[in-house]
Amino acid sequence: MRDERQRRYLEAMGIPLWAPRKPLTRAAVRAAEPSAPAPEPVAAPATPEPVSRAVSPPRREGGASAPPPAATPAPLPDTSRPPGGAPDIATLDLDGLREQVAACARCAELAATRTQTVFGVGNPDADWLVIGEAPGAEEDRRGEPFVGRAGQLLDAMLAAIALDRQQAYIANILKCRPPNNRDPRPEEAANCRPWLDRQIALIHPKLILVVGRIAAQALLGTDAPLASLRGQVHRLPGTGLPVIVTYHPAYLLRTPKDKRKAWADLKLARQVMAAEAG
Ligand code: URA
Repeated sequence: MRDERQRRYLEAMGIPLWAPRKPLTRAAVRAAEPSAPAPEPVAAPATPEPVSRAVSPPRREGGASAPPPAATPAPLPDTSRPPGGAPDIATLDLDGLREQVAACARCAELAATRTQTVFGVGNPDADWLVIGEAPGAEEDRRGEPFVGRAGQLLDAMLAAIALDRQQAYIANILKCRPPNNRDPRPEEAANCRPWLDRQIALIHPKLILVVGRIAAQALLGTDAPLASLRGQVHRLPGTGLPVIVTYHPAYLLRTPKDKRKAWADLKLARQVMAAEAG
C-alpha cells in the first residue's frame, strides 16, 4: 500500500521508479558529510542578493549561475533578546512562541504589509523538519506554509519518502511574506532567526530538510551555490543536527529536469534518517 502510494507520488513528481537501496550505515553517513568543517553560524548569508522585484521572479538554483556579487554586509541588529518586556525566547513553548511571533514587529516593512504571520505547521514531535524560505501570497492569506502549487509538490516530495505533513513539521526562514515575493533581506533573516532556532530546539527533529538556495544559505550561514550544498550531509552549527539541502519545489515546478536530483536528495535524507534512528 505504502509502495503503491510512493509510486503514485513519484509519478506526480515526474520521477521514474527507483529500486530501494540498503540504508546507509552511520559510517556511510559520515562519509557523505562535507570534508571541510561547516562554517560557523552567522545570522544571515554573508553575501546577500539585494534584489527587489515586482513579481515573483524565478529562483536561481541550478548552481551554474554566477555567485551573488560580493557586498559588505550591513551590521545586523542584535536579535538575541526579544524587544522590550517580552519573555525570554528560551523559556517559550511552541504556543507561546507562536504568540510572540504573531506580535513580532522587528521588521517594520514586513509587519506593516503581512496579512498574518506564518509560524509553521505539523507534528511538534516530528523527526523531520522541513524549512523553506518565506511565505508567499497564498501562505500569507491562509497562515500556513506551503499551501500553494509549490506546497502540492512539496507534499508529493514528502509522500515519495512515505511522509505526510503530520509526520513532519514545516516552517520557513521568515515568518512574514516579503512584499511582492522579493527575496528575504539578511537583516530580516537575522531578525527571524531566534524564532526559528527556538522552533528547532522545541521540535528537536532528527533531520532538517531545507528547500531552496535562499533557505539553505540562511540556515547554514553560507553563500555557496545550491549545486554545491545539495547531495551531502551538513550539520547545523550549534546543534549537530543533520541538514540535507534540496531544490525548492517552486524551482522544480519550473525546472522539472532537476526533479531527478531532488529525488536523489530525498533518498539521501531518508538514508540519513534511517542511520540517525538506528
Ligand atoms: N515557498 C516557501 O519557501 N515557503 C512557503 O511557505 C511557501 C512557498
